[in-house]
Amino acid sequence: MAAPLSLLDLPSDVLLSIIDILDAFSLARLTCVCKPLKALVDDFGWSYYLKSNVRPSYGLGKHRELLSSRARAKYDALVDHSWQRAHSFVARPLLRQWRGKLQPVMTVSEHRIVIGAGRSLYFYTFTSTPAVKLEAQINLENPHQHGRDITSLAILDDDGTNVELIAGFENGDIQGLDYVHKTVCPFQPPIDSLHQGVAVKSIKNMDDMLLSLSAGGDVAITNLTTADSSCIQLERKSWTSYLSLRSSTPFAAFGTTAISHALDIHYMYEDGLSPVASLTLGSSIQNARQAAVYAIASAPPAAPWGASPEIVVSGWYDGRVRCYDLRARTRTLSNDGHSTMLTPVMTVADPLRCEPIYSISSGGGSASHIAAGTARHSVVSFWDIRNPSRGWSVHAPGNDFSPVYDVVLESSRCYGVTQSRAFVLDYGPNVTQDAYPHVPVNNARDGLTPAGHGFYVTQYKHWSQKISGDLANDLLY
Ligand SMILES: *[C@@H]1O[C@H](CO)[C@@H](O)[C@H](O)[C@H]1NC(C)=O
Ligand SMILES: *[C@@H]1O[C@H](CO)[C@@H](O)[C@H](O)[C@H]1NC(C)=O
Repeated sequence: MAAPLSLLDLPSDVLLSIIDILDAFSLARLTCVCKPLKALVDDFGWSYYLKSNVRPSYGLGKHRELLSSRARAKYDALVDHSWQRAHSFVARPLLRQWRGKLQPVMTVSEHRIVIGAGRSLYFYTFTSTPAVKLEAQINLENPHQHGRDITSLAILDDDGTNVELIAGFENGDIQGLDYVHKTVCPFQPPIDSLHQGVAVKSIKNMDDMLLSLSAGGDVAITNLTTADSSCIQLERKSWTSYLSLRSSTPFAAFGTTAISHALDIHYMYEDGLSPVASLTLGSSIQNARQAAVYAIASAPPAAPWGASPEIVVSGWYDGRVRCYDLRARTRTLSNDGHSTMLTPVMTVADPLRCEPIYSISSGGGSASHIAAGTARHSVVSFWDIRNPSRGWSVHAPGNDFSPVYDVVLESSRCYGVTQSRAFVLDYGPNVTQDAYPHVPVNNARDGLTPAGHGFYVTQYKHWSQKISGDLANDLLY
């Protein structure tokens, strides 16, 4: 009788393809079986795992560089696990409360996060610990100049020491800002200010293209290499924009207030942006006030539809987050008959407070989450879009009666800004007290919890809430 075949007698390519489909916990168990299997997992398993379980992040890059593949996989598995348990995170403010009510904006690179609030810029760097440190606060010029609050911000380039930023202001100005050694020098970017006197609502950049949008609907798209600009007019109250150059036809998306055109896609051709909507992303809203889109983002990388650049995630005035797949075949004529309309492939909402969505970002645990900043009580709502009925919402530290004007989600952290402060919700393992700046507080209820490293915040689960008929009709999972 032939000796029974052992697992290790299998050809190595078969073993490797088995290892390729294992999750982190199974790989860890396999390393305990025997030395040859441990060697196989250490040599190939962890790096395979990391390749097929990408966790995009900005601030964690420096930390991850120091870790072995095994330690990275462990870190990611722990992060995914705390997202799954929803409530295990640490909430921290990033600085003292601002005076007055501001409408801050954020932008992020792999080296730092920059917050524009009123006329000030706050630069936070990411360290390898991983921690977030306040590097500089810079007040931009003349306090008497009118309308110089920052309304939009984008990082063009950040090599670690030098940062090139573009800022848009309430008065329509667009300015370049060079940040180096904790000082800022203004420069004239190769774009005209096309938004005379009207706030610049949004600046987005990708590769060498820069897209700017004014509150009045003036759009400029500029190739920064050639300084060639082209402009279109949306001719309606506009809130936000989104640029996608990786999709099969590059496009820009605009969030505005307009019954049948609150979210329009304009394709980009050789000679510039299409002046009319190429596609309209629809809703069933029949009320002008509710038909407004304030936030647009890409899909989370591990979305069920794939990490396609053809997916658009949007936050609406009626409190719904609607996801669209531009590849979808079911198309209708828009309500006004002027363009092709797509219906959402997924709609989610917080059933307790269907507040307008002001900001949106994708990523998080398992790279499958959406975070949405809402209009009141500094609430951020989260959904794992593989299981969207199990969403939850968190009040930011301080519980300000304020919208969350901007959110940025990376694998373990969600950064946000309210009218009074910047904050972070951290789902990472081993968050220490020094991971974030020390912020003195006025009363204990606003301070660190007795257990130590996070501030008190309240949160609630969506699935224990009763869903009204109206909303139930809308929710598409
Ligand atoms: C967290 O801390 C514990 C105990 O100090 C340590 O064993 C563990 O490896 C740490 N985890 C990570 C991901 O650093
Ligand atoms: C911008 O212009 C440069 C130089 O002509 C060109 O190589 C590049 O492709 C342009 N970028 C886009 C996105 O069209």
